[in-house]
Amino acid sequence: MSRRTSSRIPGFYKLDLESRRRRVAAHGNLRPDELTPLDTGGICVERADGMIENVIGRFALPMGVALNFLVDDTDYLVPMVIEEPSVVAAASNAARMVRAGGGFRTDATAPVMIGQVQLTDIASPDAAAGAVLERKQELLADAAALVPRLVARGGGPKDIEVRVLSRPGQPDGGVIVVHLLIDCCDAMGANLVNTVAEGLAPALAEIAGGRVGLRILSNLCDQRRVRVTCRVPDAALVCNQQVDGAAVRESIVAASRFAELDPYRAATHNKGLMNGLDAVLLATANDWRGVEAGAHAYAARSGQYKPLAVWRSDGNELVGDLDLPIAVGTVGGALQVHDGARLALALLAADSATALASVAASAGLASNLAALRALATVGIQQGHMSLHARIVAQAAGATGNLIEVVASELSALGDVKPERAREILARLRASRVATGLALEESL
Ligand code: MEV
Repeated sequence: MSRRTSSRIPGFYKLDLESRRRRVAAHGNLRPDELTPLDTGGICVERADGMIENVIGRFALPMGVALNFLVDDTDYLVPMVIEEPSVVAAASNAARMVRAGGGFRTDATAPVMIGQVQLTDIASPDAAAGAVLERKQELLADAAALVPRLVARGGGPKDIEVRVLSRPGQPDGGVIVVHLLIDCCDAMGANLVNTVAEGLAPALAEIAGGRVGLRILSNLCDQRRVRVTCRVPDAALVCNQQVDGAAVRESIVAASRFAELDPYRAATHNKGLMNGLDAVLLATANDWRGVEAGAHAYAARSGQYKPLAVWRSDGNELVGDLDLPIAVGTVGGALQVHDGARLALALLAADSATALASVAASAGLASNLAALRALATVGIQQGHMSLHARIVAQAAGATGNLIEVVASELSALGDVKPERAREILARLRASRVATGLALEESL
């Protein structure tokens, strides 16, 4: 068991922002002032200017932390950056249910990425494939020489595979693709893999008797996968409106089956999962587009687009199972310049890229569970609307505790509209004048 502080912090959401920062900093063994980069969106404008092209400013999104995460017996406060209300609360809620069943269990492969070298105009693709494989050891040694520091860290090129894509006489002529399998350690690995693919391509073309085509990593990194499982006891699934945990479990299993049968539903099922996963990737400045591309390609590997996570009953427990390719880094990339992302990593205290991938995938499974539980019981709108009501209340001018008061009244009325929020606010302010109380403080 971990000796970290528990990620279960009852009443956290009721604290004000400064108090939340103090709690989170204490959890991460940081001083509260070390969180100040978050005041400027995690990056100064000068750094932003050097990061991409034609910069005209910065664009911030909220960063929250999801609570209750127990992953492989270690407690994590999970930083999430996202524009959508309810994702952080829902993931925290689901993580609490999973915690009741012992937490998330993960199993990850080595962080092996695939670099593709396409070779075209090949007269005899099968012979070319054989020739490349015959020279595998020599090619691996040449590849290793291109990334000596990675090799020194224990990673580097590990294997070579060849696939024949097309034969002479077919419209594309003779085409093979060489897969360079490279252990990227704690890097996401795009630069490393592309360096090796470009560096080795001329030799490969010569051996194959063809021309160099594309040289680039594959985002379908199916050699770099994480599997996350969890067990949730029926008692933890009970929600206010539905007292029977077994019925909730069965409804979630039925919702999972729906996604397994229907790609239209599977897309939305996976979107809910990516809500949590992408939010962690964004917080840690990882390439979420790459992970998305790989995840969806993997979801379609059988020829039918499928859910990445499935849910089954086992006695009185709900069992979740997620398997997906995921390439993330804890070194290099945008992390070198983005203070906010480095801070998110420090808070998370994941000690390797594989640990980060495991926590991010757990956040994905938690988000999926939260969505299915809501959909299978009260529906998604109730939770969404109450959080949306807070945004509407703020937009109407409510501040401090008034936000909650106006939002609750809007939700109770079932009429979450700006004009209604303004009316409620005006009424509350008028009553403050009548009673002579400073309403913002009095509540
Ligand atoms: C909304 O962001 C995500 C959901 O649509 C996911 C799902 O339907 O499973 C609620």
